[in-house]
Amino acid sequence: MSRPVLRTPLCDLLGCEYPIMLAGMGSGGSPPELVAAVSNAGGFGVLGATGFTSEATREVIRKTRHLTDMPFGIDLLLPASLAESPESRSEVLALIQAEYPKHWAFVQGLHKEYNLPAVQDTEEYVSVASSLVREQVDVIIEERVPLFCAALGDPSWVVPKAHAVGMKVLGLAGNARNALRQKASGVDIIVAQGYEAGGHVGRIANFVLVPEVVDAVLPVPVVAAGGIADGRTVAAALCLGAVGVWCGTAFLFSTETTIGRGKQEQLARGTTEEFVVSRSYTGKTSRMYRNTFLQRWEESGLEPLPMPLQGVLVGSFVKAALAASRWDLVNNPAGQVAGRLRELRPARQILEQMVEETVDVLAVLPSRITHGIRSPAH
Ligand SMILES: Cc1cc2nc3c(=O)[nH]c(=O)nc-3n(C[C@H](O)[C@H](O)[C@H](O)COP(=O)(O)O)c2cc1C
Repeated sequence: MSRPVLRTPLCDLLGCEYPIMLAGMGSGGSPPELVAAVSNAGGFGVLGATGFTSEATREVIRKTRHLTDMPFGIDLLLPASLAESPESRSEVLALIQAEYPKHWAFVQGLHKEYNLPAVQDTEEYVSVASSLVREQVDVIIEERVPLFCAALGDPSWVVPKAHAVGMKVLGLAGNARNALRQKASGVDIIVAQGYEAGGHVGRIANFVLVPEVVDAVLPVPVVAAGGIADGRTVAAALCLGAVGVWCGTAFLFSTETTIGRGKQEQLARGTTEEFVVSRSYTGKTSRMYRNTFLQRWEESGLEPLPMPLQGVLVGSFVKAALAASRWDLVNNPAGQVAGRLRELRPARQILEQMVEETVDVLAVLPSRITHGIRSPAH
């Protein structure tokens, strides 16, 4: 059977057929089943492993290996300047109760008001605790996952360890300054992630960000992220100078993701304007579906606490809301492009359609545009 051809230097760098990457997503966004489906279909899957213990990290890597022989990556949020905050959840909780009693009372009040069940906090560490992340990185290096992806933080301490065992490293950036920092740390690929994107975002939209980052970090290859979900947007990213795309939200509409049906149905109903940026769940600006909790937080007038405090403050509330299937209170990160997506499909179909459409767009474009140089009039 004939297969479309769509190749860029990213394919040679990563050993994949198509320059389309599944973004690393936490909270069940990109589990082994989805990663393997994307890599098996010719793309490049990336596991989201933020907050996992080292045992759980090894388990998802091995499970993915069991499901695919193709290369894949793993993504962690690296701690930035978190040295001053305690690492264990119980210590952070004690600090919040002592220093931010109004924040604590507000969230406890909501828990009662919505009649949510009591839940057990089982995690020992905050999800970006340096000791936890260092243990995870050790496992990832031991397992020689082909690509390590670093969101937030500074990956310079990971790069030599990864390169020493033949792994590649990718870093995310939302502006040229951070992209230059990633370049200085020695990463092999930089993802320029625009304001349209789901999850933690910066403030610059892709039409400005991608060409700016491409020029700034030359010759490091740049992959575009944010709002990319079909052939037109993939082709546009390539025109902006990217060598590939990093897609999160498009694959939240896959049958393999494990964010849960309740969240997927909410995403499928959402309109573009309902995917907004808020600091209320993690303390850092993150794009998600606008829900009742966001509204209540805004009305409270409380300033969100810095990462990782805010995540710990609202952690039990979110768990309880999940247990009660209160989708109007649960964090549901997704990008603006969710407003255009409706249908849930297997990841292979999503990827194959993106590839076919991109090939069509690139083939048809020259016939739709008259271009060239007019010779001077005689
Ligand atoms: C549900 C969800 C979870 C995410 N979790 C992470 C994460 O753990 N680490 C990370 O680097 N980026 C995370 N992101 C951002 C994605 O990696 C990616 O940059 C973004 O989804 C791209 O924009 P798009 O959603 O418009 O495709 C997340 C995004 C979503 C939608």
